[in-house]
Amino acid sequence: MLKANDPCWCGSGKKFKRCHRDRTEQLRPGTISPARSVPPEIPRPDYAESGEPHRWAEPRVKSPDVIRRMRTAGRAAAEILELGGAMAAPGVTTDEIDAAVHQAYIDHGGYPSTLNYRGYPKSLCTSVNEVICHGIPDDRALRDGDIVNLDVTIFLDGVHGDTNATFLVGDVDAASRQLVEVTRQCLEHGIEAVKPGRPFNEIGRAIETHAHAHGYEVVRAFVGHGIGEQFHTDLQIPHYFEPRFTTVIEPGMVFTIEPMISIGTGNHRIWDDDWTAVTADGSRTAQFEHTVLVTDTGVEVLTAPAVVPAQGSTAS
Ligand code: MF3
Ligand code: CO
Ligand code: CO
Repeated sequence: MLKANDPCWCGSGKKFKRCHRDRTEQLRPGTISPARSVPPEIPRPDYAESGEPHRWAEPRVKSPDVIRRMRTAGRAAAEILELGGAMAAPGVTTDEIDAAVHQAYIDHGGYPSTLNYRGYPKSLCTSVNEVICHGIPDDRALRDGDIVNLDVTIFLDGVHGDTNATFLVGDVDAASRQLVEVTRQCLEHGIEAVKPGRPFNEIGRAIETHAHAHGYEVVRAFVGHGIGEQFHTDLQIPHYFEPRFTTVIEPGMVFTIEPMISIGTGNHRIWDDDWTAVTADGSRTAQFEHTVLVTDTGVEVLTAPAVVPAQGSTAS
């Protein structure tokens, strides 16, 4: 936690007490609404009832059939994230976003992958300000100046599509806007590092280099992951340089890249809800995530938002 006379996390050079201390109240746990249900005709992942995923040795290189289904799941996840992001405004509660996103999965014929995953109670993660990840939607209304990450995962046609983005709520201070923009760039640099034949550690190296160039820290406790018929496989992708991670990237692999970047410390604490991860010093953090497929030449982003045709375009 920052002390009154420490330099403010926003980089203004002012003391914390003269800058953001009284403007950014630290977040507190809110009230979580009762569980939302999914219609019985929607196919569920194996953990939907028990909360415990059954782990098995899923191939890292996916079959053409799995890849085809993951394209569809990825596109659906991207659309649902866009819908959730459009709701991020002052006065809207994260539970209201959960309700809308929950219905959107169902409208796509999918199941909210996070719902009862290891007991997680909601249909997406909503991580506000100093929350790094796994924030639980509750009755707190978003406030002017907040930043909020929405992490959407759909289970559709037997596979998962996982994507997240950080959204600005109303009028956000310049330091936080810069954090969000640089974090978006960190994901782009990570994706550009994906090439068949390269070691996996090039991804984290690219992300870390960019974050450090802006004076930010990379959160090390949470990593990208293999994904497919299982939400999380044994493959882990750190967002920092890990020299020993020399496993070679191969065409047909599918995994997420999801850097969490902090203005202050990259160390975290977990709330008593056993989910919400916050920065140890209360500084703000941002995150962006895509699910990517390795191709023969580079990468295909499976959760890329649909391209909006230019005005006057004849494409239909
Ligand atoms: N979607 C998150 C990820 O990117 C995982 C959330 S798991 C939950 O891997 F249980 F917290 F929802
Ligand atoms: Co993920
Ligand atoms: Co995610």
